[in-house]
Amino acid sequence: MPAPSARRILVTSALPYANGHIHLGHLVEYIQTDIFVRFQKLRGNRAIYLCADDTHGTAIMIRAQAEGRSEQELIAAMREAHLADFAGFQIEFDHYGSTNSDANRRLCGEIWQALRDRGLVVSRPIEQLFDPLAGVFLADRFVRGGCPKCGAADQYGDSCERCGATYGPADLAHPKSTLSGATPEVRSAEHLFVTIEALHGFLDTWTKSSGALEAPVANYLAGHFLCDPLRDWDVSRPAPYFGFEIPDAPGHYWYVWFDAPIGYLAATAEWCATHGEAFDAWWRRTAAGAPAAEIHHFIGKDITYFHTLFWPAMLEAANLALPTKVRIHGFLTVDGQKMSKSRGTFLLARTYLAHLDPAALRYYYAAKLSGGIDDIDLNLEEFAAKVNSDLVGKVVNLASRTARWLEHTGLTPEYPDDGGLFARAAADSAEIAAAYEACDFARAMRAIMLAADRANAYVDAEQPWKLAKAGPEAARKLQDVATVALNLFRQIAVYLAPVLPKLAADVGALVGGPIRSWDESQTPLIGRPVGPFSPLMQRVDAKQIEALLAASRAEAVSTGEPAMDQTPSSPATGADSGAALAAEPLAPTCTIDDFAKVDLRVARIVTAEEVPEAKKLLKLTVSLGGDSTRTVFAGIKGFHEPAALVGRLVVVVANLAPRQMKFGLSEGMVVAASGAGAEGVYLLSPDSGALPGMRLH
Ligand code: 2FM
Ligand code: ZN
Repeated sequence: MPAPSARRILVTSALPYANGHIHLGHLVEYIQTDIFVRFQKLRGNRAIYLCADDTHGTAIMIRAQAEGRSEQELIAAMREAHLADFAGFQIEFDHYGSTNSDANRRLCGEIWQALRDRGLVVSRPIEQLFDPLAGVFLADRFVRGGCPKCGAADQYGDSCERCGATYGPADLAHPKSTLSGATPEVRSAEHLFVTIEALHGFLDTWTKSSGALEAPVANYLAGHFLCDPLRDWDVSRPAPYFGFEIPDAPGHYWYVWFDAPIGYLAATAEWCATHGEAFDAWWRRTAAGAPAAEIHHFIGKDITYFHTLFWPAMLEAANLALPTKVRIHGFLTVDGQKMSKSRGTFLLARTYLAHLDPAALRYYYAAKLSGGIDDIDLNLEEFAAKVNSDLVGKVVNLASRTARWLEHTGLTPEYPDDGGLFARAAADSAEIAAAYEACDFARAMRAIMLAADRANAYVDAEQPWKLAKAGPEAARKLQDVATVALNLFRQIAVYLAPVLPKLAADVGALVGGPIRSWDESQTPLIGRPVGPFSPLMQRVDAKQIEALLAASRAEAVSTGEPAMDQTPSSPATGADSGAALAAEPLAPTCTIDDFAKVDLRVARIVTAEEVPEAKKLLKLTVSLGGDSTRTVFAGIKGFHEPAALVGRLVVVVANLAPRQMKFGLSEGMVVAASGAGAEGVYLLSPDSGALPGMRLH
């Protein structure tokens, strides 16, 4: 139980969108936040970790349509997938809500009313592009066309990737809707705006003086936004839109970014309802002098603007408590580059979990995160080396070299003379705690590893394995040495508990019971039984990393996009949505000569078998007629029963350069359709009468 004087700390991570799976980029934030919260709890503070799925908006609506299911079905499936991924990485929320909840609808209404009451809502028509085929207004990123400045083709509706110009979607030359390919029309629609400029003075003061923001962030806001009048914030979208209809503006919906941060309040309200707590105790402003709860938001740098201008403005208008800290982190790169599907470095959480230990990533991220806004790089070679050297070589090794000598005797009844090692590491507590508090986990890990180095030097010097062979006269000394080593190990496990909760639990089971408090780092254990030792962590093997990359590559091939968990049913009737084309716009024009270089042939599948080690691959033998057969590895496992494929005609790229894969040589490619977020992989079949070996022209 936290002491009555303990700090009360409400902590959030940004709400993940319900239109995609959790990947290793997302996990930087969730792991960072989880470590912070676990640290606070271990210190005896009352911390609660709240999050939710961000479920509304055009993207969800379009995806659900493309998959032939309702938005509710889509967000329910994605919620389950998100929760499984988070649990796999030992991310422990106190409550995980949804922006599509009764609590959120109610709280959106309350904040809206507060904005209305303060005269901060205005209405005016704006002109926007409308897709006449899809029947929706188009957000900027759903329109592509020529850059009005430099003429570059196929640019998004808000900015040019070539020259960097920013503009409106209506300025594009030859705009096309990415949803249907139709030429959009300019239509006028009424929108509701929050006149945030009325809170300019408040935002000036809050960003600079509240202590919630680091100075570089406050300076950035001052130099980019607060130096000019703030533009009205467009918070409504006309129907059709998946979200909450605005009660006093029928036919209009709150924009997803209006209801998303209110999801923090809704998650609090739901948690309070199930824990007998008062919402006001967390979010109401307190009378001067009364201790308020702390509110910490962890976010990525791309959503700084929403959390440091709009969100405090909404809270101010509603007279709610303001964030104590907005903790902003950078992006993740993998091997120095943006995550990429073709390189196999677009790493989904669940794919990682199928190949590697979540604790390894938690530790690696902790060792990289210093509380700043810089991007962090997941260098896969360094990842393996660091985990192996620090966690396996230094930490776990301490126990694996000593615990077994104590299995029959337990710890000594008095703590032996260790030359001051335990006391020295105990004295590091304040420094390590300060580093955790500042989210400078890298500094905390360095200090902990120094303690591990000292402990290992002790074991190396005392050589318990020699004492074990020296006969009964050395038994007492052996018990002393092992007692010291195991205590130093447990002390390190206490310090690492926020990062490695599973290791902490396993250490507790080995000796001393569950680790519940940071203070357990201050006193050595004596006279306790020691359980049987079982390996606490495995080395990261280069082969596991190769398998992870191969699986990610195969996923990218088989789905085109991070896949959903359910195979959507195709809409049986009605117009095709155009979403498949939108998801993968046409490649640049090629000539007939270019096309002729690709030799597409009809082929018959003669054998089909699973590749047990590969999640997505089937090994096929295909016949091109006569004696000509090829072995092809196809990323279609899970979508086609091998036995049902035998005898079937398919289309193969017959002159593709052979590729050496881990499982054998692949001598071609079977052509299949996929994409638009649909999980299926659809093989092509020629009309009856076609024969193996026939060329496609
Ligand atoms: O950027 C994102 O992924 C958003 N879904 C984050 C929302 S955070 C909060 F405001 F709700
Ligand atoms: Zn341009």
